[in-house]
Amino acid sequence: MDFAPTTLIKNLKESQLGSIVTIGGWLRTRRDSKGGFSFLEINDGSQFKGIQVVADQELGNYDELTKTYTGASLKVEGELVPSPGQGQPFEIKATSVEILGNTDQSYVLQKGRVSLEKLREVAHLRGRTNVIGATMRVRNQLSKATHDFFTGNDFLYLHTPIITSSDCEGAGQMFQVSTLDLENPPKNDLGGIDYSQDFFGRKTHLSVSGQLNAEAYACGMGRIYTFGPTFRAENSNTSRHLAEFWMVEPEAAFFTLNENTQLAAAYLRYCFKHLLDTCQDDIDFFNLRVDKGLRARLEGLVDAEYKCITYTEAVDLLLKAGKKFEFPVLWGSDLQSEHERYLCEEVFNGPVTVIDYPKEIKAFYMKLNDDGKTVRAMDVLCPHIGEIIGGAEREDRLDVLESRMAQHDLDPADYAWFLDLRRYGSVPHAGFGLGFERLVQFCTGMGNIRDVIPFPRTPKNASF
Ligand code: 4AD
Ligand code: MG
Repeated sequence: MDFAPTTLIKNLKESQLGSIVTIGGWLRTRRDSKGGFSFLEINDGSQFKGIQVVADQELGNYDELTKTYTGASLKVEGELVPSPGQGQPFEIKATSVEILGNTDQSYVLQKGRVSLEKLREVAHLRGRTNVIGATMRVRNQLSKATHDFFTGNDFLYLHTPIITSSDCEGAGQMFQVSTLDLENPPKNDLGGIDYSQDFFGRKTHLSVSGQLNAEAYACGMGRIYTFGPTFRAENSNTSRHLAEFWMVEPEAAFFTLNENTQLAAAYLRYCFKHLLDTCQDDIDFFNLRVDKGLRARLEGLVDAEYKCITYTEAVDLLLKAGKKFEFPVLWGSDLQSEHERYLCEEVFNGPVTVIDYPKEIKAFYMKLNDDGKTVRAMDVLCPHIGEIIGGAEREDRLDVLESRMAQHDLDPADYAWFLDLRRYGSVPHAGFGLGFERLVQFCTGMGNIRDVIPFPRTPKNASF
């Protein structure tokens, strides 16, 4: 970008050796040597490693420079020269160092480690740290990989609405959207709230999933995907739940569950490969400091076949485990996180796809199997995280879908347009939703989901 005022540290190249470059960044450390030099370690966030700047006492503002602290913002101009130091190809011999903004002792990100918990309290500053910087670069590359994979395979990127009047999962864990006066809402004849006077003339919420809208366009445009924020008002204070998270949702006409599981595996493999190719230094850091087996695990998954078992087989494996789980294992009840982790970590030692769940524990839109008891659901489970993907082949038969909705106590009038998709030119189709933050967790080894999204939203917390 030739109009940018500075060169990013990641873009400094050997071919620029001997020429004058300009960089901007934040001071990590400063070491003043007796010989009238100061060594400044500057990081600009463009890559894991910063660059060393050698400032000499001849610089007009040298005295001022020796009074800068960690976190000070600097703009440096100087010659790019080979570095005698280890682990860095070059350094900058400064001809000018402009102090844009100094800090003082109250700056929280002093040298030395600050805990992840503490960093959450300064989420506006934590992007300047190694760990969060690396996480956000990984997140960025996973986002790119997502778009590259789906658009590269002829999936059309479709933007589904965030405000909705339908509950996709039928679980009722939604944030309401309203402009009514909460203190004094208008009432209808029955004494309830009169939503006809609300902004949209009806009750609306933030979407828990773009799936229903995605299905509409897949059943006409073939293969589409959404990638956007989704919202769940579930009061889960865990290391893998957020109230606002990003979901990647492909939906494909003519796909059955079989192709759907293959699509999920191909997408994950593509992400792992892309990350190993583009984020080497960041992965090295996580591998060293956060999760020792990370690199080998990602490498192992690039070409791996992911195991696929039925829910019934999963229950058998758990019953045979000879292990005491906190929650009992019982055909018909949902797999708990401890069960999911046991399957991935102790039985398969990697991701596993579980299909054909009992219909009672899954959403209304999943296709009923011929056994009448299970649905064509698929969950992809990963070590340490548990469920990372949830999806299904969709129920494309109008009568079956209507009776499934009745069993779930859903009013068909609320889903009239969704039923139209089965009324007019219905086709088999399938899709899934991947929790993007859980993917970032899996690819970094970061233990808490609050640390893989820039500004986490969780129960009792929407700071920043
Ligand atoms: O399994 P879920 O609820 O599936 C759906 O919403 C489907 N409508 C998706 C589809 O078929 N198009 O959610 C999908 C994924 C989960 O597997 C999980 O990874 C993630 O979304 N997820 C969450 N991530 C963070 N915080 C939460 N509260 C999450 N709830 C679900
Ligand atoms: Mg799920």
